[in-house]
Amino acid sequence: NKKHNKFTIGFSQCTGNDLWRKNMLAEMLTELSLHPEVDFHYLEASGNSTMQRAQVDTLIEKGIDLLIISPNEAEPLTATVKKVMDRGIPVIVIDREVKGNGYTAFIGADNVEIGEMAGQYLSQLIGNKGKVVEITGLSGSSPAIDRSTGFFAALNQLKALKIAKTVSGDWMEDTTKNILSKIHWQLKDIDAIFAHNDNMALGARKILNKYYPEKHIPIVGVDACFGEGGGLDMVYDGKITASLVYPTLGKEAIRTALDILKGLPFRKENKLSSIVIDSSNVRVMKMQAAMISSQKDDIYNQRKLLDEQKLVYKSQQVVLNTIIVL
Ligand code: FRU
Repeated sequence: NKKHNKFTIGFSQCTGNDLWRKNMLAEMLTELSLHPEVDFHYLEASGNSTMQRAQVDTLIEKGIDLLIISPNEAEPLTATVKKVMDRGIPVIVIDREVKGNGYTAFIGADNVEIGEMAGQYLSQLIGNKGKVVEITGLSGSSPAIDRSTGFFAALNQLKALKIAKTVSGDWMEDTTKNILSKIHWQLKDIDAIFAHNDNMALGARKILNKYYPEKHIPIVGVDACFGEGGGLDMVYDGKITASLVYPTLGKEAIRTALDILKGLPFRKENKLSSIVIDSSNVRVMKMQAAMISSQKDDIYNQRKLLDEQKLVYKSQQVVLNTIIVL
């Protein structure tokens, strides 16, 4: 395979239905459209670690040259990554981490820093004192653990700003709504909410609006996705106060994969930083996102045009050859 510069890349995604993951996949496909020499196999595990382990086996059977994986939970997928590595197949871990560093490369963000930034932002917003509710992501997934660690560290320095309650929303809006409905009376006199992602932030806003419509409790989320109904829209529409950008990294993953496969130099650890999006910069961000996504469409269309032209050229060749033969 490699001799002919043809590669097969497998991508094992922990879950696929939310906008953040859709954006990641779209970025990968855009980048891949520039590389017709790559065969791409994609499987998504619907948030189920056992299913994800089985899907990695399926990808191995397909004969992949490299695996990209976003592990649903760190613990259950660590041995899986090791197994793939032991077979001599390079692995790029993306977004969520495994235990240790037994992979070829990691591409993600500093989630401890994201948690810290959220804590600092909230403390500036509500004046260094008060009660905050934290809504965490899936407890076994590394961004949830790291965002909590960073958030706790930031608030710990400000003795008067306290985490009144921590609940787990498993990264999902519905889970968050269910759990907050059950304890809605505990939300009555809180000063702010930090949710580990925007889906859960939105769920929290819906519950607050239902039980305390007269209050406008600030909510900070993470992701700040572009696209309809994403975090940028939520901030723009005032549904949430702020969101921290969590880069989707699809393009970086494909580029690093190709570097590894072609034997080019690459960095093992890649952690991008975040920024806070709130009413002060959301317009600019939305404009930039719109521009980038139209550029992506351009790339797609150009690629399509090229392919069509190639086809036309080929059929013209056939006609020409036929004429010559005649
Ligand atoms: C999407 C998501 C994001 C979150 C990330 C953490 O599936 O839940 O909202 O930032 O995963 O891995």
